[in-house]
Parts: sequence; structure tokens; C-alpha cells
Amino acid sequence: MTSTEIRNSFLKYFEERGHKIVPSASVIPYDDPTLLFTNAGMNQFKDVFLGTGKREYNRAADSQKCIRVSGKHNDLEEVGRDTYHHTFFEMLGNWSFGDYYKKEAIEWAWELLTKVWGLDKKRLYATVYESDDEAEELWKKMTDIEPSHVLRFGKKDNFWEMGETGPCGPCSEIHVDLTDDFSGSKLVNAGDPRVMEIWNLVFIQYNRDDQGTLTPLPAKHVDTGMGFERICAVMQGKKSNYDTDVFMPIINRISEIAGQPYKAQ
Ligand code: ALA
Repeated sequence: MTSTEIRNSFLKYFEERGHKIVPSASVIPYDDPTLLFTNAGMNQFKDVFLGTGKREYNRAADSQKCIRVSGKHNDLEEVGRDTYHHTFFEMLGNWSFGDYYKKEAIEWAWELLTKVWGLDKKRLYATVYESDDEAEELWKKMTDIEPSHVLRFGKKDNFWEMGETGPCGPCSEIHVDLTDDFSGSKLVNAGDPRVMEIWNLVFIQYNRDDQGTLTPLPAKHVDTGMGFERICAVMQGKKSNYDTDVFMPIINRISEIAGQPYKAQ
């Protein structure tokens, strides 16, 4: 599939499941002094999660342009050094505003990856927050993931927050093992390009205030984010995001203008 087909297929899958497809918000967030740049698809829905705003729909999906160069989510140091971080990238996301929760989020993510897109189940790992028994049980009951591929991690990896303050909650990430011999189990969350996070399912249920206190929100929500350039690399059988059709036409044109061949290092 081309990158355009992958993006369209994601949006169509969630549209068929009652999600309103919305445009990417501006990369400069409106009226939010806590963020310099939009760092996740959920930013434009912060007010809905906090219960201070409403939309005409309670399910949404989009492809959000994100910049991660400052604050809590800062990938600047990784860019240019690895094959899968970008300062500016697209995040495919689906949201539930007080509607469906963990069960559907997990079932649909699994169905899209394994049935619609045909990813090899043996290559997929799901991580859950250390105390989230419910998420672990749902992975094992509602999907046919290899049970030993459901792993628990602590706050650093499996509790997602948009910034120092704001909506947050435990999350369940999906990682893909791209090792030749399926030996990636120990490389999940180890910063190795052969085992990469591709999708984060966040179960938003708290607000963190400026004193650091967590308060339960009026409703529970789902906030997911899939690395578009990463899923393109996986689906197109490339070892680096830069080798996909998201980047290669740009790289080839630069090479043409510069009169220099593009050489992988
Ligand atoms: N908001 C979540 C993230 O950015 C999905 O990882």
C-alpha cells in the first residue's frame, strides 16, 4: 500500500465505526499556554476531555500534524540519529469522548492491524500499565495475541500525559518486532529500531493540575495515536521510515537538485 492508501484506509476503518473524520488542527495550538506546538492528536480535544467543551460527535478520527521539539515530548535528540523519530510527523488517531472505552479501542486496533492490514501477529507486542489488569485481560480475551506478548511496564512507558498538566491516563502500546528471528521480546521499550512502538492507546481518565495532583475526570475517554511514518515503513517492508514513499520522493528530488546520489549510511 502507498502511504496515501494507508492513511485513507485508517480513516475509512474508523469512519465505518461511527467516527467523524476531522481535519488536522493547526500545529500552533489555539488558546493553550501549556503547549508551544501541537504534540499529539488529542490536543484539539483537550476541552472535551476536561469536560469544559463539547463537540457534535462523540467519536472522531484524523491524521494530525505534530511537532515534538520541546516540553514533555521532545524528540529533537533522536532525529538524524535513528530511523524512526521525527520532529514533524503525522499521527493517525481515533477518539472516544465518554463513549467506548478499553474494549473497543483494543479490539479495533488489533482488527485493523492484523485483519485489515494483515500484519503478522507473531511480530506484535502489547504493553499495559503495571496496574492495569483490565487492559491485560482484554488483550488476552478479545484478541488472539500470543499471551506471552502482553507485557507490563511502569509510568515512564505506560502512563501518557500531554504535558506537565492536562488530561492523562494509563496506556497500552502496540510494538512491532522487526528482528529477523522473532527475538524482539526483550527489545520492547529498549530504544532499539528493530522493535518499534507503532500505536498508543491511551485511556484518559485523570487531569493533572499545576500542583501535580491527579483528579478523576467526569467521564472516561479513549485517545489513540499511531505513528504514520512508522506504520508506512512496516507495511512497505522498509527498515527505516526514510525509505518509505513518504520521504523518498523528497530525498530523490534533493539528490537530483544537488547532483549527488543519495547513499544510505
Ligand atoms: N496521545 C497519545 C500519544 O501521543 C496517543 O501517544
